[in-house]
Amino acid sequence: MRALLLTKSDEGVVTHDIADLSDDDLPEGDTTVAVEYSTINYKDGLAITNTSPIVRRWPMVPGVDFAGTVISTESEALKVGDRVVLNGWDVGEKHWGGLAERARVDSSWLTPLPDEFSTYQAAAIGTAGYTAMLCVLALERHGLTPADGPIVVSGAAGGVGSVAVSILSKLGFEVIASSGRIDSEGDYLTALGATTLIDRAELSEPSSRPLASGRWSGGIDVAGSHTLVNMLAATNPGGCVAACGLAQGMDFPGSVAPLILRGITLVGVDSVHESTERRSEAWQRLATDLDPTVLDSMITEVGLGDVATVAADIVDGKVRGRVVVDVAR
Ligand SMILES: NC(=O)c1ccc[n+]([C@@H]2O[C@H](COP(=O)([O-])OP(=O)(O)OC[C@H]3O[C@@H](n4cnc5c(N)ncnc54)[C@H](OP(=O)(O)O)[C@@H]3O)[C@@H](O)[C@H]2O)c1
Repeated sequence: MRALLLTKSDEGVVTHDIADLSDDDLPEGDTTVAVEYSTINYKDGLAITNTSPIVRRWPMVPGVDFAGTVISTESEALKVGDRVVLNGWDVGEKHWGGLAERARVDSSWLTPLPDEFSTYQAAAIGTAGYTAMLCVLALERHGLTPADGPIVVSGAAGGVGSVAVSILSKLGFEVIASSGRIDSEGDYLTALGATTLIDRAELSEPSSRPLASGRWSGGIDVAGSHTLVNMLAATNPGGCVAACGLAQGMDFPGSVAPLILRGITLVGVDSVHESTERRSEAWQRLATDLDPTVLDSMITEVGLGDVATVAADIVDGKVRGRVVVDVAR
């Protein structure tokens, strides 16, 4: 089987190769999956380019997501031929991941794929899309409805952002898309359902004002740092912001003013260790609330040999929407 293999030398230099491995090389696990498609998330970009210490065991097959078919299992909950998707669970970080033709994992990490999706679409959604859904679910749990006002989404042309814009629009929300690429991706964002486009700089610049005029009832933030601070500062009283990312930075240079003077809720979203119940809920909701035609418009397909190039591009913020990796080519 072909696999992208990351290796670290004694000097700490990380290299990547397409390796020819056998099933005997696969790690421990009660279930083996024939991977059909994987994807490249921001975290995969960080791992493959070794920009951040994502990988904690070497050598590593990266890829935090895969979708495919069970080819052997010792689990009573699964059978050969089941279509499954895996997102997170430290796969591609501590345990070999999805950028290979086969993966062996713990069956409890696998989510049955809803009938509505092909394995190609499941990989296209991937961790980015499933996290976007978790963020929308967090806003819903807070009680936000389209009648409360618009929702702002940062990094809108990226993976999480594109799926979030599309789902929110389908649910009837007015969506304010924040992007650093309005000139090149404005039409794309409007086609996903964004009603207003704002330049990324409106949110990403440092501000000395802890509170701003309310502009939205809630937000989904992939950037962290000043973007998250400014998003909170302009959230209407009683609103809610779901934070999942650090594309701008992991710092949080803000004040508690929006929380204690406007009753705003900041919800953190961690897709990697989310419960099985919430994962299933998110995938079921993706089946009803993500328009497959709109999903198709977000996808770029590449082969295993292209992954290293795309990994560098995603870290540079150059990738639009979602990337599907056909692991057989
Ligand atoms: N917590 C979790 O479980 C979880 C799950 C998935 C992803 N994430 C995180 O969410 C973030 C997005 O992931 P992704 O897969 O969607 O990545 P992505 O496809 O690369 O999207 C990130 C987007 O952020 C915007 N951006 C880039 N640099 C920025 C900056 N300096 N300031 C503000 N915005 C910037 C860009 O969008 P525009 O060009 O449109 O501005 C970029 O396309 C990453 O930090 C990732 O680690 C977290």
